[in-house]
Amino acid sequence: MKLKHVTSSRQFDKKFIDQIFALTDRVKKGKFAKNTLGGKILASLFYEPSTRTRFSFESAMLRLGGKVISTENASEFSSAAKGETLQDTIRVVNSYADIIVLRHHTTGSSNIAANISKIPVINAGDGNGEHPTQALLDLYTIFSKFPAFDWSASGGKFTIAMVGDLLNGRTIHSLSYLLSLYPKVKIIFVSPKALAIPSVLKDHLVKSRIDFRQIEDLDLAFKDADVIYQTRIQKERFTSPKDYKKYFGKFIINASSLKKIKPKCIIMHPLPRVNEISPQVDSDPRALYFEQAANGVYIRMALLLYLLAPSQV
Ligand code: CP
Repeated sequence: MKLKHVTSSRQFDKKFIDQIFALTDRVKKGKFAKNTLGGKILASLFYEPSTRTRFSFESAMLRLGGKVISTENASEFSSAAKGETLQDTIRVVNSYADIIVLRHHTTGSSNIAANISKIPVINAGDGNGEHPTQALLDLYTIFSKFPAFDWSASGGKFTIAMVGDLLNGRTIHSLSYLLSLYPKVKIIFVSPKALAIPSVLKDHLVKSRIDFRQIEDLDLAFKDADVIYQTRIQKERFTSPKDYKKYFGKFIINASSLKKIKPKCIIMHPLPRVNEISPQVDSDPRALYFEQAANGVYIRMALLLYLLAPSQV
C-alpha cells in the first residue's frame, strides 16, 4: 500500500502502521538527514484554530529542512473570506507548495481537497469527521508504554476507555478506526447518550468484531481501563449554548480518580483540555498527555518523509 493523501485512519493497515512507527522511532533518535526535505514547501491551511497539529506539522517540516507557507487563520485571512471555494484554493495552492495540511470545519473537506489535488493532502481535522494523524500519534504513544504487549493475538485483553463528546470528537473516531485493526482491544465508550459514537463507527466496530460497550458512568470504566482517553466536550460543534452547558463538566478526572484507576493505567488526552482533567493530575506518572503531544512532531516528521521522500524511508 502506498498512500498519496491522508484523509482517514481507515486508510491505514498494520503494515503501514509498523512502517510509520519504525520510522518515527528512527526520527525520535535523531537518525535522519537534516536536509531531507530541502527545497520542499508545506502549505498549512487551517480554517479552524490549532496549537498542536499546526505547530507540530510546521516544526516537523522545518526540522527536515523544508519550508512552510501559512496563514494565521484561513477562514479570515485567505480568499475564503471573499467567497473563494475550497476547491479553487486547493487548485491554486497546488502551484505554490509540495504538500497541503488542511484543517477545515466541514466534515469530508479533506476528501474534497484530495480529489482535486495533485500534491498530497493531509487531513488535520475535518469538522466532526476525523483526525487521522492524531490517531497515529495516539497509538504510537500507547504502543510505546506497553512494549511487551502482544498486539497481534486475539482475545479482548487490553481495555481502552474513551470518554467525553464521542459524537463530535474526531480524534475518538480516528483512533477507534485504528484500534479496530487489533482484536485484543476492548473499548469502553463513556458519554451521555446524546453524545455517543456515530452509527457509522458503531457499525464498523460491530463488523470488525471489536468488543465494545457504551456506558454513562466514568467510575465504572476506571477499574478495567489500561488506557483512559479523555476528551473535551466540543463546544464549537454545538448550536445551542444550553446543550453545551448540559454536558460541560460531566466527566472530570481529578485527584480522587487517581485512586480508582489501575497502577499502570495511562491517562491520555488529545488536548486542548478545558476542565475535564484537573491540573492536580498532571504530576502523576500515569498522566501522559504532554508526552503524547510531544510525539506529534515525530509522527508527523515520519509521515512527511513517507509522503515526500519515499526513497529515504
Ligand atoms: N489535538 C489537537 O488536534 O490539538 P490542536 O487543536 O491544538 O491542533
